[in-house]
Amino acid sequence: MRDSFDILLLPGDGIGPEVVGAARGVMDLAAEHFGVKLRYEERKIGGEAIRDEGGPVSDETLEAARASDSVLLGAVGHPDFDDAPVRPEAGLLKLRKHLGAFANLRPVAAVPALLDASPLKKEVVSGVDVLIVRELTGGAYFGEKEEGDERASDLSVYTKEEIDRVARVAFDAAKRRKRRVTSVDKANVMATGRLWRKVVTEVSKDYPDVELDHVLVDAAAMHLVREPGRFDVMLTENLFGDILSDEAAMLPGSMGMLPSASLGEPGSPGIFEPVHGSAPDIAGQGKANPYAAILSAAMMFRHTLGRPDVAEAIEQGVSVALEAHFLTADLGGSKTTEQVAEAVGRWIGAGE
Ligand code: NAI
Ligand code: MG
Repeated sequence: MRDSFDILLLPGDGIGPEVVGAARGVMDLAAEHFGVKLRYEERKIGGEAIRDEGGPVSDETLEAARASDSVLLGAVGHPDFDDAPVRPEAGLLKLRKHLGAFANLRPVAAVPALLDASPLKKEVVSGVDVLIVRELTGGAYFGEKEEGDERASDLSVYTKEEIDRVARVAFDAAKRRKRRVTSVDKANVMATGRLWRKVVTEVSKDYPDVELDHVLVDAAAMHLVREPGRFDVMLTENLFGDILSDEAAMLPGSMGMLPSASLGEPGSPGIFEPVHGSAPDIAGQGKANPYAAILSAAMMFRHTLGRPDVAEAIEQGVSVALEAHFLTADLGGSKTTEQVAEAVGRWIGAGE
């Protein structure tokens, strides 16, 4: 196991610096606990990069990302740039493309201490633990486009290779979980859906201990609110994954709880970031919920740094802090960002 890593921090805009600062504090304590050495470099992305460097992400920052072991990102975006020619979000898309981050992982788990925060019934949400694996660089978002007032089109293209590599990410993740992959497509009406289903079925032969089923995307959307507990790993293409992951994000009740990872080829640095945005309405007030950023740091240890032991210790700290009601305002509590991070740090590896 490696025990020394170079981490690029990209705090970004709004509450980004607050939640990344909180996550860094937790990472440092976890590293100390395990005798791991973390070296950080911090750079700009998003609105602050446009202001200070003339673009949403500089070439130097892209190179620093590629040279790092992993990237921890806060959030990008600010209303000041809503009508600007270059938007902060462009920095994030460029970074994902530069690192070839084709698989987006979003775990969504019900938190026993937070069941009341969910808009769904407690008995529906209780025990939910889904990992959505979304293909991130293909499909209708990246195909040939025709703009127009009378006619417009977005071409959705998938190759066997693109489906194969993201399917392997999902099956590998399932091996560490409940060993079930639900592949979501629209094979009854879409050619890309039929290829998707064929390739995923082929890949599944390399994972005999993982169970695979196929569900049409409309049915999947229904099951996700009716019986979310039936899913373990949910694998899907770009557009469907965008929609389903936001639907799933509502299960735990707050965006402030959800981490994500964007992964490329094995050995390439991943991008780890909370699902939420820069929350300009609460920026600079110490109110931001840092759990999503802290859990993103845990995913980094698991998925690219090869230290699942450190990831689990951080996740244990989070569980204990939540049970002890260290909750920010979005969760109905009154703790500050820093108080939550300190609590997680205190309970790192609790019960080991
Ligand atoms: P948002 O996620 O920033 O905020 C939505 C609501 O949730 C707000 O009321 C906010 O206060 C609250 N919230 C979000 N994260 C929170 C946290 N950690 N703790 C407590 N409350 C939290 O989404 P919104 O308002 O639509 O977008 C704001 C800016 O963020 C925009 O410029 C948008 O483009 C950008 N954005 C960036 C993303 C990214 O960097 N990956 C993702 C989504 C939006
Ligand atoms: Mg979305």
